[in-house]
Amino acid sequence: MSHQLVIVLDFGGQYNQLIARRVRECGVYCEVFSYKTDIEKIKELSPAGIIFTGGPNSVYESTSPTYDKQILSLGIPILGICYGAQLMAHLSGGTVEHAESREYGRTQTYYNKNSELFSGASGLGSEGITWMSHTDYISKLPEGFEIIAHTDSCPVAAMENVEKKLYAVQFHPEVNHTDHGTQILYSFVRRICGCTGDWTMENYAVSAIADIRAKVGDKKALLALSGGVDSSVAAALLAKAIGDQLTCIFVDHGLMRKNEGDEVEQAFSGWGINFIRVNAADRFLGRLAGVSDPETKRKIIGEEFIRVFEAEAKKIGAVDFLVQGTIYPDVIESGLGDAAVIKSHHNVGGLPDYVDFKEIIEPLRMLFKDEVRRLGHELGLSDVLVNRQPFPGPGLAIRVIGEITAEKLDILRDADYIFREEIAKAGLDTSINQYFAVLTNMRSVGVMGDGRTYDYTLALRAVTTTDFMTADVAPLPYDLLGRISARIVNEVNSINRIVYDVTTKPPATIEWE
Ligand code: XMP
Repeated sequence: MSHQLVIVLDFGGQYNQLIARRVRECGVYCEVFSYKTDIEKIKELSPAGIIFTGGPNSVYESTSPTYDKQILSLGIPILGICYGAQLMAHLSGGTVEHAESREYGRTQTYYNKNSELFSGASGLGSEGITWMSHTDYISKLPEGFEIIAHTDSCPVAAMENVEKKLYAVQFHPEVNHTDHGTQILYSFVRRICGCTGDWTMENYAVSAIADIRAKVGDKKALLALSGGVDSSVAAALLAKAIGDQLTCIFVDHGLMRKNEGDEVEQAFSGWGINFIRVNAADRFLGRLAGVSDPETKRKIIGEEFIRVFEAEAKKIGAVDFLVQGTIYPDVIESGLGDAAVIKSHHNVGGLPDYVDFKEIIEPLRMLFKDEVRRLGHELGLSDVLVNRQPFPGPGLAIRVIGEITAEKLDILRDADYIFREEIAKAGLDTSINQYFAVLTNMRSVGVMGDGRTYDYTLALRAVTTTDFMTADVAPLPYDLLGRISARIVNEVNSINRIVYDVTTKPPATIEWE
């Protein structure tokens, strides 16, 4: 695949992935490398630009991550961010010191708009808000550098040495809170590094398809399709590349949402691939009967999934390639530079290691989630599939609290469907990151017509989040909640009470089990 490359050298900052994502938003391919990467390797990669990330250390301590000084004289443009800025100053002969107080949060920043870096950032004025998070600061400018931004408490909020193509910002341009931050990165990668913007999902699709064809030749590939975004987009890409040499096995465990199994099947009809849907609901429900502990449920579903998949795969016989929907954040989180420890990734359980295959193909391995979605669109997958909210591998099994029965699953499916329908009607389906209904194991007294009822309480959960590690409660309007409640108790039997979960994560988790 030929496209220009900018690399991010990771010094342990919390926003390293975000930097790479923002650079890709500028149409430039970007990869994250550990600061332990050898300089010879970097020379070999011959990137158009390099970005040093932030990090939690102090550059003047001998144990802190550092880099071979020679990198500054390769003639490749470098942008240092936060710790990366201090490191650049330190390696160039400037001084970095510990400040008495930390500069943290949104900070008024004054720019030199005639500077090389900021003059190329469209929309940026001579002052604006940046996101700061540092205690150390550059107290003495290295020779050859010029100050190009400052704040009330930070004398060197940005500096540049145009001749040596070295640029540094103490703030975080990759974070949304920095006004015009992406434009600052754009100025660096597009103007200073001279990248042309050759990274698009259209180009990616074309070259990935060619690569897959060359690799697979006339052999066979197997893919476990869950209906989630990643496995669906991987399937679409392989379908375009190798058509009926691909077999997708879709294990329908009977724990999907209303109509979902059929939707997945329908989405992949007409692609000219071998599509096998295994309706294994009875088998899963049988194994789950009487089980109420959440972790036991997960374990049973994971094991059963592998068994069903393995049985189907055996019918096909030996395949050469197993396709996996691993995406770039999984790769980064599994340890940079340590290719060996990259985790095997599957929605439900582990990798079926007894399925007979020679090699793994991971066609989404270098893509971020938003790129996977754009690629899905590019390949012609429907919005429903591409914009699907995350859905846990164990499915509704962990949203029916306590023991699972077919009847409870049906009740939950109907209620959840109404909830999702009303959220979409209110136009909130794209701004809320995950929303679903939970069938609690509690019954309470109600009154319906002239009669007393004793039915289930249903909980609604809707959250906004960027990383699913923390989450906020989506502030659903009361009238919407009222409408949803009225519809569910009227249209779904066995539910007579609706509650809305108003707990953030932490302390609660997103799912109830
Ligand atoms: P929690 O409940 O841990 O959820 O706050 C965070 C995110 O992970 C999803 N989740 C799962 N996904 N298998 C999965 O594939 C699971 O067992 C599982 N449990 C939770 C959850 O839906 C949310 O997006």
